[in-house]
Amino acid sequence: MKLIQTLNYAELSQQAAAQVLSRLKGNPALNLGLATGSTPTGLYQELIKDHQLNRTSYQRVNTFNLDEYIGVPKKDHHSYHYFMCEKLFEHIDIPIEQTHIPDGTAKDFGKECTRYEQFIREYGGIDLQVLGIGQNGHIGFNEPGTSFDSRTHLIDLAESTRKANSRFFASLDDVPRQAITMGIATIMDSREIFLLVSGITKAEALARLMEGEVSEEFPASVLKKHPNVTIFADKEAAAML
Ligand code: PGA
Repeated sequence: MKLIQTLNYAELSQQAAAQVLSRLKGNPALNLGLATGSTPTGLYQELIKDHQLNRTSYQRVNTFNLDEYIGVPKKDHHSYHYFMCEKLFEHIDIPIEQTHIPDGTAKDFGKECTRYEQFIREYGGIDLQVLGIGQNGHIGFNEPGTSFDSRTHLIDLAESTRKANSRFFASLDDVPRQAITMGIATIMDSREIFLLVSGITKAEALARLMEGEVSEEFPASVLKKHPNVTIFADKEAAAML
């Protein structure tokens, strides 16, 4: 794993964006894996800025998001569909039908997981996956204890994850209890991975990732087994290294 330390969040976002743009330049039909949460929003703002300034085109790009809450309709402000449209898709020229996110309102979640997994495969796999990390080491919504062999699946969210995400909801009770997430093996199939880590609340997780052992109890540790991972960490996140 390659570690890039930046002074602050703004620089982290700029550096990650520059690297995403260089991959896009090399392959204008990039299969780009995307994440939600607070951490990647600065990267998305940088991509939007670049699109406005330099007209970088996403017409041939397909995006694949990591996860979606169960039971939250696409149009609901809390859905990851809504989040991605608001934070990125509606500000660049990507055809909306080329943006892919698991359907958290599917009738049959087992079928939806299989469909999403096969779908990624049919598209030839993910070239570059952007990830955040949970304080408990989750990647996507793969909570501690998830098998490293897992494929796209339904998961019960950890209480700590629900609490962390309750800042986006009126109350903790409103935070969904389940999600569909790409599995750990699905994420590991990506040809390249960018892990974005920002802020003091992630310092312990980053230290455990860099210095701890590989264990299913700390899902992000699997990334040590991937040949092409770059970690972008700001000063606060790197405080315990
Ligand atoms: P955050 O979420 O970027 O909002 O901290 C990251 C995650 O939980 O994976």
